[in-house]
Amino acid sequence: MKGIVLAGGTGSRLRPITHTGPKQLVPVANKPVLQYGIEDLRDAGITEIGVVLGEKGRDEIQAFLGDGSEFGVDVTYIVQGEPLGLAHAAGCAREFVGDDDFVMYLGDNILKQGIGELVARYESNDAAAGIALQHVDNPGQFGIADVDESGAVRQLVEKPDDPPSNLALIGIYVFSPKIFDAIADLEPSWRGELEITDAIQALLDDGESIDSHVVEGWWKDTGKPEDILDANRLVLEGQPGATAGTIADGANVIGHVDLHETATIREGATVRGPVSIAADTVIRSNTYVGPYTSIGPNCIVDSTHVENSVVVGESRLTANGRIVDSLIGRGAMVESADDLLPEGRRLVVGENSQLKL
Ligand code: DAU
Repeated sequence: MKGIVLAGGTGSRLRPITHTGPKQLVPVANKPVLQYGIEDLRDAGITEIGVVLGEKGRDEIQAFLGDGSEFGVDVTYIVQGEPLGLAHAAGCAREFVGDDDFVMYLGDNILKQGIGELVARYESNDAAAGIALQHVDNPGQFGIADVDESGAVRQLVEKPDDPPSNLALIGIYVFSPKIFDAIADLEPSWRGELEITDAIQALLDDGESIDSHVVEGWWKDTGKPEDILDANRLVLEGQPGATAGTIADGANVIGHVDLHETATIREGATVRGPVSIAADTVIRSNTYVGPYTSIGPNCIVDSTHVENSVVVGESRLTANGRIVDSLIGRGAMVESADDLLPEGRRLVVGENSQLKL
C-alpha cells in the first residue's frame, strides 16, 4: 500500500499566517501539521509516500521533508499546481500509485489515534474504498456520509445544505486504483472543484461497496486559527513533556513542560504546563507562560503573560499585558508602548490580520 498526502491549497482561512508559508507547515506543539500525517502513515507501515504540492509553499515543504528519510519514509513529490479540488489532486498521483491500493491523507488534518485501524479494516474486506468518519456538530461544513449499521456507505454529499447525517468525512481515505477512473469522469462541483466525495459517490453508483469506520479519539482539520489552537491544546494534553533545557533557580515550572535542550527559563518566570518551548527560546523574569501554549524557536518572552496560544517562532513578546487565545506568526513582535506619548496602540499590521484589543 502507498500513501499520498495533499499539501496544496491556498490556506486562505489562515491568513495572514499563510501569506508567508503553506498551512501544512503551521506548527502544532512545535511540530508542523504535515509531519503528523507523515508519521501516521509510517506508523501504519506505509513508507512510499507521494506528497502533492500546489503553487504555494512548494519550496518550503520540500525543504522541510527532503527525501523523507529523516521521518523514516520515502517521499516522491507530485505537483498539482492550481488547487482544483481534492479529486484533482488525487488524480495527479495516478502514475505514482500505479496498481496499488493507497491511503490519501489531507495534509492539514491531525488525528489522535493514527490510521492503523482504518487500514486494517480496508485490508480485511473487498470494498473499493474505506472512509474515516466522525460525528460533528456542523455537518454543513464537511463531506457527509449516510451509512448503515454495518458501516456500509449508502450516500455521500459534500458540504450539504440538508445533511443526511452528522457523520463527517475526516480527510483520511483508503482507495483501490478504481478511484482514478471515477475521478477522470467527474465534473466540477458548485464550488468549482473536483470533489473526492463525488468520486466516491460515483463508485457507489457503479455498484462498488464503500466501507466506513468511525474514528475514536479527537480529530482536527486545522483550516482556521481556532482549529490550530484546539489542535495544539489536544496534542499538548496528550504528550508528556521532556524537560531537557535549562531551568534557573528561582524559576517556577509546574506540570508537563516540553523544554528544548537549548531553551531557557530564567529566574522569576512561571511556566505552567502543558507547554512546549522550542530551541533557543528564552523565557525571562516577570513572565507567565500558561497552559496550552507552544512557543517556537528563537523567541524572547519577557515581562508578559501568554496562555492558550501558539507562537510560531523568531518573535519578541515583551508587552506588559495578557496574550490569550492567540496565533502569532513568525517574526511578529508584540511589545509595550507604555513610555511613549501620545498614549495608544502602535500597530504595524499586515493584510488579513485579526486584532482584538
Ligand atoms: O477536513 C475534512 C474535509 O476536507 C472533508 O470533510 C471534506 O469532504 C473535504 O472536501 C475536505 O474539505 P475542505 O474544504 O476542508 O478541504 P480543503 O480545501 O481545506 O483541503 C484539504 C487539504 O487538501 C489541504 O491540506 C489542502 C489540500 N488541497 C486542497 C485542494 C482544494 C490540495 O492539495 N489540493 C487542492 O486542490
